[in-house]
Formats: sequence, C-alpha cells, structure tokens
Amino acid sequence: MIMKVLICDPVASVTIQALQEAGIEVDNRPDITAEELLRDVAQYDGMVVRSRTKVRQGVLDAAANLKIIVRGGVGLDNIDVKYARSKGIEVRNTPKASSNSVAELALGYMLAMARHTPQATMSMTAAEWKKKKLKGTEIAGKTLGLIGFGNIGGLLGRKAAALGMDVIFYDVITPPDPGPTRQVSLDELLTQSDYISLHVPLLPATANILNAEAFARMKDGVYVLNCARGGIVDEDALYDALVSGKVAGAALDVYVDEKVHPGNAKLFGLKDENGFNKVIGSPHIGAATVEGQARVGAEVADILIEFYKENS
Ligand SMILES: NC(=O)c1ccc[n+]([C@@H]2O[C@H](COP(=O)([O-])OP(=O)(O)OC[C@H]3O[C@@H](n4cnc5c(N)ncnc54)[C@H](O)[C@@H]3O)[C@@H](O)[C@H]2O)c1
Repeated sequence: MIMKVLICDPVASVTIQALQEAGIEVDNRPDITAEELLRDVAQYDGMVVRSRTKVRQGVLDAAANLKIIVRGGVGLDNIDVKYARSKGIEVRNTPKASSNSVAELALGYMLAMARHTPQATMSMTAAEWKKKKLKGTEIAGKTLGLIGFGNIGGLLGRKAAALGMDVIFYDVITPPDPGPTRQVSLDELLTQSDYISLHVPLLPATANILNAEAFARMKDGVYVLNCARGGIVDEDALYDALVSGKVAGAALDVYVDEKVHPGNAKLFGLKDENGFNKVIGSPHIGAATVEGQARVGAEVADILIEFYKENS
C-alpha cells in the first residue's frame, strides 16, 4: 500500500524527511483549519497532530481511509480515542519523549521559588537593589511531595533526591522501583510537604485534587507547582490560599483556561508585602525544549514507519 499521511500541526522537518525516506507520502499542512480538515481527511491513511488539532467524531466519521493517528506529545485530550478505536483506527502518542523536559522545568521552578530569582530579576530590571528583601531558603533538607509518580514524577523525584530533598509521593499504583523516595497517603503528603508538585493526568479523580480542603491540610508556607494540567488545582482555592499566606508561592505552567484570561491575570497579579509576585509561571512550555521536541519528532516518525512496514 502507498501510505498517505497528513501532518496537521507543526513537527520537526527531520520527522517529515524520515517519513519520506521510508516511502510515506506526506502532506505537511501545519495550519490546516477545522473546515479544511473535515473536507480533506478522507484522502489520508495516517494523521499526525500535536495539541492544536481536535479529532472528534465529525472528523473521524469523515476519515474514510484513516488507520492511524499519532499525537506528538503526552495527553490524548484532543482526540476522541474511544470513538477512533471503535472504528478500528489506531491511536498512538509519545508518552516519554518530553518527560525529562517537564521534570527539569519543575525542578527549576522549585529553585526559583526558593531563591526568588524571577522576582529578583524583575526588581533589577526596575533598577532596584532589594538585596535585604530577597533572603531565600535552600531546597536541600526540604520535603517534596509528588502527586503522581509516573514518567515525570519519577524523574523529578530522583533529581530532587539527588539534590538532598526528602521525596515522598502519592500514587494509585505502587511503582516497582521507587528509588530514594517513599510512597505515602495523600493526607500524609499534604501535611508533610514543603513543596507539592502535581504529575497526574486530568481525570475525574484528579480534578481539583488540590481544593480548599487540601490546602487547609497543608503546612503553612508551602510551595505548590502545577506542570501537569489545568484543573488539577482549584485555581480559586489556590488564590485564596496565596492571599491567606497558607501557600507562600506557586509555579504554574498549565491553566484551566490556556490563553490571556482574567483568572490567570488575577493569580499573576498577586503580590507579597515586598511587592514581589507570589505566582511565577509560563504558558504551557513544559515540553518545549530542543531535546524534548527532537525526541517527539523521532518517535512520531518511528511509530508511522513501523506501522507502514507492518501494513504494506
Ligand atoms: N506541562 C507540560 O507541557 C506537560 C508535558 C507533558 C506532560 N504533562 C502532563 O504531566 C502529567 C503526568 O505525565 P506523565 O508522563 O508523568 O504521566 P504518567 O502516566 O507516566 O504518570 C501519571 C501517574 O499518575 C498516577 N495517577 C493516575 N490517577 C491518579 C490518581 N487519581 N491519584 C494519584 N495518582 C494517579 C498514575 O498511576 C501514574 O503513575 C500528565 O497530565 C501530562 O499531561 C504536561
């Protein structure tokens, strides 16, 4: 068979090159609109998407020849996976390609919160010398509580332990090799941690896992990180906990509403008594590294080439 693949979101040029060298026909349309996708999808055997393109029932019904969808990245939130599989379409992703990038981002955020480096940069930019207001803490000797100990949580746990942190985690499964970390109950994690970092998928069971009751159980002055998915932290409860001082600082890479949004602006507008930001963060850049993206691109190509070889 001649395999024809539609690239719907931006991928590395080496990915396209590898597919073409394997004899796969590629249409690279990284800006394809929803209407164009619906109109043209029937021509393709395979599709590559990142997070922009939504593959719901309408597209799947129109995709008369589609056999495989590859999502470059972790979550499959933008694909109706159950419906696709019910139509015999294989759905694959690249679950580990960006794990280290996300783990390093979270680690960087812990150090940044401990030493107030974003706030210090902002004050230097404003030509201020606020040395006395910028006393920090060390992360060594502090307890890091990881909610979710999969690919990303596991990597972060090992890195943090190597830097002298006491690492505990809560997960619904017991990993075979927890390394220098210890599995605990959620309550133990909430009450013992100096830093709490989220690494679970967004599911009904994890939505708002950090809500007002959870914040009330935490140590005073805890730091909270969400580099997983918006909606795992109740953002209103986080705001209240930051205002009350229960939470000393938060680092966010993901949000309930991932755009310029009043809720996000409200959190980033929160200042401490020295006029410094209580929240630091980024616009969902966890996987956005040169190395992470290269691994995503290579894995996408490998999956499609293997599928092509098995089916031609
Ligand atoms: N910021 C980013 O750009 C970025 C990039 C990649 C992944 N992520 C997100 O990071 C999260 C974790 O990714 P991962 O690759 O480590 O996933 P993973 O599947 O390897 O690990 C998730 C862990 O959560 C556990 N879990 C599931 N439900 C749970 C529950 N109710 N209570 C406790 N634990 C539960 C699982 O058992 C698993 O060990 C995902 O939500 C993913 O979407 C974010």
